Amino acid sequence: MAGNGEVVSNKQVIFKNFVEGFPKETDMYVKTSSVSLKAEEGSNAVVVKNLYLSCDPYMRTRMTFNPDPSELSSFVPGYPVQGFGVAKVVDSGHPEFKKGDLLWGITGWEEYSLIRNSEGLFKINHTDVPLSYYTGILGMPGMTAWAGFFEVCAPKKGEYVYVSAASGAVGQLVGQFAKLMGCYVVGSAGSKEKVELLKNKLGFDDAFNYKEKKDLVSALKRCFPEGIDIYFENVGGKMVDAGLLNMRDRARIAVCGMVSQYNLSKPEGVQNLMHILHKRIRMEGFVVFDFFNQYSKFLETVLPSIREGKVVYVEDIAEGLENAPAALVGLFSGQNVGKQVVVVARE
Ligand SMILES: NC(=O)c1ccc[n+]([C@@H]2O[C@H](COP(=O)([O-])OP(=O)(O)OC[C@H]3O[C@@H](n4cnc5c(N)ncnc54)[C@H](OP(=O)(O)O)[C@@H]3O)[C@@H](O)[C@H]2O)c1
Repeated sequence: MAGNGEVVSNKQVIFKNFVEGFPKETDMYVKTSSVSLKAEEGSNAVVVKNLYLSCDPYMRTRMTFNPDPSELSSFVPGYPVQGFGVAKVVDSGHPEFKKGDLLWGITGWEEYSLIRNSEGLFKINHTDVPLSYYTGILGMPGMTAWAGFFEVCAPKKGEYVYVSAASGAVGQLVGQFAKLMGCYVVGSAGSKEKVELLKNKLGFDDAFNYKEKKDLVSALKRCFPEGIDIYFENVGGKMVDAGLLNMRDRARIAVCGMVSQYNLSKPEGVQNLMHILHKRIRMEGFVVFDFFNQYSKFLETVLPSIREGKVVYVEDIAEGLENAPAALVGLFSGQNVGKQVVVVARE
């Protein structure tokens, strides 16, 4: 690793301009600039070498100009894309991070980043698992699956659970957590390969390819003849309407995400909301950031499950920053099989 104070070249993925509709690879470009590896004197900043970057659907919302300061800020055109990643500290003015430490949190899509706001950084203390897992199962998507399923859905043994976008970063974990709880779990995904993965590797009881189903209501009815107790929603749109018609009394719908809506200028409407009323359904949205204070408790439960092989994690690895724009854009056509990670460097 390069030494402190040295100025080195820095390959970056730059966000070109605000996006309308589906994002394209050309909404970003790769350029090389230079960076000092020294944290500013007297500051709390950290300079990191980025190792693994996370591609997440919410990043699409940051590609749209958003003037509302209460929401996630937009990316800044002309500057590197920002997102979750795993990195190694090169220099630090922060009392909690020292050179050589590994961390995960918000960083830049570039080889080296100067991070001035260390609020969202977590030190990595367990390295007996793949480091890339801190972009997924041990990072933001893992926390999302855990908090969304256990806190928002309040599952009980034997309940019927439906997960949409089930083979992705979050969905594959929700399904496995539900199986560990003794639930019956069905997932939907967008290809034959993903359906096989759900049934044969991830332990789902059943799965279907929603792209092959003209009638989603009947597809769900076939999988859940007695109805759904818990619907973990990642997709939105038509799937919500189909789900609502298949819920049981006192069912819970955790609204984790609505990836089918992120690229639409006009979101689709939902017709079947009346079912919330007469079936006494609780439909609740949640944001993972509200649960980050429970990160150590989360690690205490999930790390042993990984080590004991009770939970597995499927990753889709793109090599190099050059391939990062395609990897990110690919999320919106289901190119990723499992958690989409970009490798910048392996230490
Ligand atoms: N609430 C929170 O705090 C929070 C935190 C993290 C993530 N999320 C949300 O959780 C959801 C899953 O995120 P993830 O990281 O696990 O992503 P992911 O599932 O790993 O990747 C996105 C997947 O969405 C599916 N998809 C894309 N466009 C679609 C469409 N039009 N209709 C149906 N499915 C579509 C694709 O799978 P198929 O091949 O199956 O179509 C794609 O692989 C997203 O909605 C995300 O925004 C929420």
